[in-house]
Amino acid sequence: MMRGIIHRPHQGIKVTIKRMKTNPVKILAFAGSTRKASFNKKLVQFAVAGAEAAGAQVTYIDLADYPLPVYDGDLEEAQGLPENALKLKKLFSDHQGLLIATPEYNSGYPGGLKNMIDWVSRKADPDEAPLACFKGKIASLMSTSPGALGGLRGLHQLREVLLNIHVLVLTKMHALPRAMQEFDVAGKLKNLDTEKIIKGLGAQTVQMIQNLGT
Ligand SMILES: Cc1cc2nc3c(=O)[nH]c(=O)nc-3n(C[C@H](O)[C@H](O)[C@H](O)COP(=O)(O)O)c2cc1C
Repeated sequence: MMRGIIHRPHQGIKVTIKRMKTNPVKILAFAGSTRKASFNKKLVQFAVAGAEAAGAQVTYIDLADYPLPVYDGDLEEAQGLPENALKLKKLFSDHQGLLIATPEYNSGYPGGLKNMIDWVSRKADPDEAPLACFKGKIASLMSTSPGALGGLRGLHQLREVLLNIHVLVLTKMHALPRAMQEFDVAGKLKNLDTEKIIKGLGAQTVQMIQNLGT
């Protein structure tokens, strides 16, 4: 809430107005693939565009910029959380929503994505509330793969894991098959209906955050 005072000398009065200053919804977006030419990195950009069109401020990150060792309790005990895990924890904490596009590897979502979630779920200090940086986040999920199922099986597994760590995963998600045919050379989706669906995932995330006031 911002309070402003406007002087109107010709009227000889002071008019006080209240102006609502609404903070934009903040969303963190990323793909579960670290591959440079990842189809999922391309896909999530459309959800980003949908969220931005709905008024959100979106931070897109590439997990390739946050390499992490395989989670190991002994390593954690000896050295604490790796710097990249701390950076990611802060990013999750600072955003209300998540947009995640993930590939499917051998019928499940990638181990690297699970490893990242595992590190981020760990406490940075003993007083931190359990799963603090996941609790209450609103997430929309999507996937794409060259195959016929588009990564749908991995998507369901990711959904279950996120729900268990108190992320509210929205019902509507999308698996896009035949990725090789769906994107043009510039990385744009060829099918306008698909583009609308993926942008809609971004928009629904913003709307839900606004509705719930999280
Ligand atoms: C180890 C491995 C396992 C894979 N298993 C599956 C699978 O189970 N289902 C599927 O649809 N695609 C599978 N693929 C193909 C990926 O969907 C494909 O490589 C995709 O492009 C990866 O996503 P990205 O383009 O975002 O990196 C697999 C790829 C790899 C490397």
